[in-house]
Amino acid sequence: MKFFVDTADVDAIAELNDLGMVDGVTTNPSIIAKSGRNILEVTKEICDMVEGPVSAEVVATDADEMISEGRKLVEIADNIAVKVPLTWDGLKACKVLSGEGNMVNVTLCFSANQALLAAKAGATFISPFIGRLDDINLDGLELIEDIRTVYDNYGFETQILAASIRSANHMSECAKIGADVATAPPNVIKAMANHVLTDKGLAAFLEDAKKADIKIV
Ligand code: E4P
Repeated sequence: MKFFVDTADVDAIAELNDLGMVDGVTTNPSIIAKSGRNILEVTKEICDMVEGPVSAEVVATDADEMISEGRKLVEIADNIAVKVPLTWDGLKACKVLSGEGNMVNVTLCFSANQALLAAKAGATFISPFIGRLDDINLDGLELIEDIRTVYDNYGFETQILAASIRSANHMSECAKIGADVATAPPNVIKAMANHVLTDKGLAAFLEDAKKADIKIV
């Protein structure tokens, strides 16, 4: 499973990128607003840092305007994936932009039917939102399973990009289901390293090392 980082915090991206943990980056208008930076400038900086796809989202709602925004976004760098919402206009924009050879990430997906339409429209990525379904007492992971089944039934090449990930548990569950990509905030990716038994075991080892006066350098 590829790891995308769901942030526009360039320092956080750089730290994870140095460890080889970054296969791509996703942003959305809320993430860009949180960065306090100009969308074109911060997206260019991220694209220069990361080899994989960097999703940048349109803010128009009309298909023609989304297409214009998408064409402007792909001028930033070769690794831009234009993010469009899963609306009828978004699907039209997806069809045109992907037909022009661009990567397109169709976002705000909450059903297998929506994912099916995005694949038919030529999406490179479909972004089902796990956490926001969980927030309303629906099962976000079940949606990932359903889309995996639908895509595998027909050999669709659209990659399932599990989004709105809120916990390390979401990451391992997505990997078990077979999501192609999971995008998560940096703190969630770092939390994957945590285990209470690791902490407990390390504390015992350090105590024994101290008692035995073990020194290596
Ligand atoms: C990424 O593509 C999505 O925009 C993001 O994962 C949404 O996450 P949230 O539901 O935590 O805002």
